Amino acid sequence: MKKIGVLTSGGDAPGMNAAVRAIVRKAIYHNLEVYGVFNGYAGLIDGNIKKLEVGDVGDIIHRGGTMLYSARCEEFKTAEGQKKGIEQLKKLGIEGLVVIGGDGSYMGAKKLTEHGFPCIGVPGTIDNDIPGTDFTIGFDTALNTVIDAIDKIRDTATSHDRTYVIEVMGRHAGDIALWAGLAGGAESILIPEAPHEFSDVIARLKHGNARGKKHSIIIVAEGVGSGVDFANKIQAETNFETRVSVLGHIQRGGSPTAFDRMLASRLGAKAVELLLQNVGGRAVGIQRNELVHHDILEILDQPHTIDTQMYRLSNELSI
Ligand code: F6P
Repeated sequence: MKKIGVLTSGGDAPGMNAAVRAIVRKAIYHNLEVYGVFNGYAGLIDGNIKKLEVGDVGDIIHRGGTMLYSARCEEFKTAEGQKKGIEQLKKLGIEGLVVIGGDGSYMGAKKLTEHGFPCIGVPGTIDNDIPGTDFTIGFDTALNTVIDAIDKIRDTATSHDRTYVIEVMGRHAGDIALWAGLAGGAESILIPEAPHEFSDVIARLKHGNARGKKHSIIIVAEGVGSGVDFANKIQAETNFETRVSVLGHIQRGGSPTAFDRMLASRLGAKAVELLLQNVGGRAVGIQRNELVHHDILEILDQPHTIDTQMYRLSNELSI
């Protein structure tokens, strides 16, 4: 392979820039030409592609967002859109593509692979919901953003003797809620992967109140339902003064943590290593701190799982 491309797609995630930097620099170090595809798959269809040099990825390792920009693209879900994308790549002589993104982006990479175009998937999403990797790029940063918010909300919750419902992102996955809830000392954590009884949530709140707790924090993953609805139900059921905070897109921004920069650099470089060996159709990941790669055609068939021991622990520690 002499020329490769890189794109970021779907919801952006802190650390995507560090991954782009690693891909570009690793490729150039090994005498490959690298092309940046701007605006995700939409830009691929439109041919919004530019050659990148070493200096183009300078001063981005610490920046959130993605210098390649991102998009969600309906047209790329069609075979026609996918073929248009491949034509654009072939026009420039690009022989392999690294796709950084979440499950929608992986779906696109899978389709390109099925059409015979070598792709490597790099997991970049705050949701931590890609099978075959313990961590996705951006999760750690988002987690720290949420913990910072919980700590701040706890201050005011204690001052006013209030119950807070904090709704966090994660789409269908509960990882952000579970990890942030455990690290933030939440009273209850509601995630899609573990069914809950509303009566248990109320019982825990009342128990805490009875032993003189000055605040309660309930973390709700967006995949479970609306934080506002939960707050209304809690207020109605307990008459405890309840407030809600929907953290929203602040979870997607900000400077990536050291962990995310390291992860992005390692995974980005690994993707290039595979293309240098003419290996395509793989999804890179990290499992037990080892870099791994799996078949991109099969990876999304595996279920996303959470650490059930961690969930149990969060219940034990929040009595
Ligand atoms: O996948 C990342 C994510 O932030 C999810 O957690 C969330 O459900 C979704 O994207 C929000 O998407 P949008 O930016 O299109 O509103």
